[in-house]
Amino acid sequence: MVGSITVEGVRKTFTTADGDTVHALNGVDLQINAGEFVTLIGPSGCGKSTLLRLIAGLDFPDSGTLALDGKKITGPDCERGFMFQNHTLFPWLNIYDNVAFSLRARGIYKEKKDDVAEYIRLVGLEGFEKSFPHQLSGGMCQRASLARALVGHPKVLLLDEPLGALDAFTRMNIQDEILRIHREHGMTMIMVTHDVDEAVYLADRVVIMSARPAKIEKIVPIELGHPRARSSQDFLAYRAEILRRLHFGGKVPDVEYYL
Ligand SMILES: Nc1ncnc2c1ncn2[C@@H]1O[C@H](COP(=O)(O)OP(=O)(O)OP(=O)(O)O)[C@@H](O)[C@H]1O
Ligand SMILES: [Mg+2]
Repeated sequence: MVGSITVEGVRKTFTTADGDTVHALNGVDLQINAGEFVTLIGPSGCGKSTLLRLIAGLDFPDSGTLALDGKKITGPDCERGFMFQNHTLFPWLNIYDNVAFSLRARGIYKEKKDDVAEYIRLVGLEGFEKSFPHQLSGGMCQRASLARALVGHPKVLLLDEPLGALDAFTRMNIQDEILRIHREHGMTMIMVTHDVDEAVYLADRVVIMSARPAKIEKIVPIELGHPRARSSQDFLAYRAEILRRLHFGGKVPDVEYYL
C-alpha cells in the first residue's frame, strides 16, 4: 500500500504584519503509515493548519523535510487531496461540475467520468447533481467538498477541521461516511480537529500538539475496533487522557484507567 508520510525536523516561522517573527512549528517529527487515520489536535494557533499545508505542499518549511512514500514533497499534487474547514465549492458551478472540476482541469475527465457519479453517490448526494451550492445545506456542501477531494483518488487525504461548522448529528453522520470511505479506499487520512470525541472516534492514532511554537506533545494510539461506542468505558478513558494532556482534564482524582 502507498501513502506514507514522513515529517522530519520541520521548523516553520512566519513574519507578522508588524515584522515580528512567529515560530509556528519547532522541530516536528512524525511518521504516518500508509492507510493510517491520524487526527491532529492542539490549542488554537499552535500550527496544525501549517503542518497540514506543508504536507499538502502549499507552503514550505524553513528547515526539515517532508516526504510522501519516501519522495520529497516539493509542491501540491493530486496525490494529496485537501479539504478545507469551510467548503470551497465554486458557487457558479452545480454539484456535478464542482466534483468533476479537478478531473477536467487535469484533462482526465473522459476516462474518469464514472467516478464523478460514484463519489456523489458515496457521499449521499445522488439526485442533487444539478443543484448549486446555495441550494444545499451546510452539511451537504461539506459532503460535496469531500466528493471533490476524493474523486482524484488521492493517496493521502488532508482534512482541516472539515466538520467544524456542522451540527452534532450531521457531524456524526459524516464521520461515519469518512470512516466508510477510509475503509473502502484504504487511503491515508490526516484530519485536524478541535473535537476530542471526533479525534478518538476516527483515529488509529491521535497526535497531540503543544501550544506554539508547536511540537508533538504526545501520540495516543486508539486501540479500539470500529464501530466505536462513544459512551463506552474504553472510549471515555481515551477521551479523559487526551483532555488531560490538553490541560482540560479538570480536577478529578487519579483513576486507574488513565493510559
Ligand atoms: N501566512 C501567515 N503569516 C503569518 N503568520 C501566520 C501565517 N499562517 C499562520 N501564521 C501563524 O502561525 C501560527 C499557527 O497558525 P495555524 O493556522 O497553523 O494554527 P492552527 O493550529 O491551525 O490554529 P486553529 O486551531 O485556530 O486553526 C499562528 O500564530 C498564525 O498566526
Ligand atoms: Mg487551523
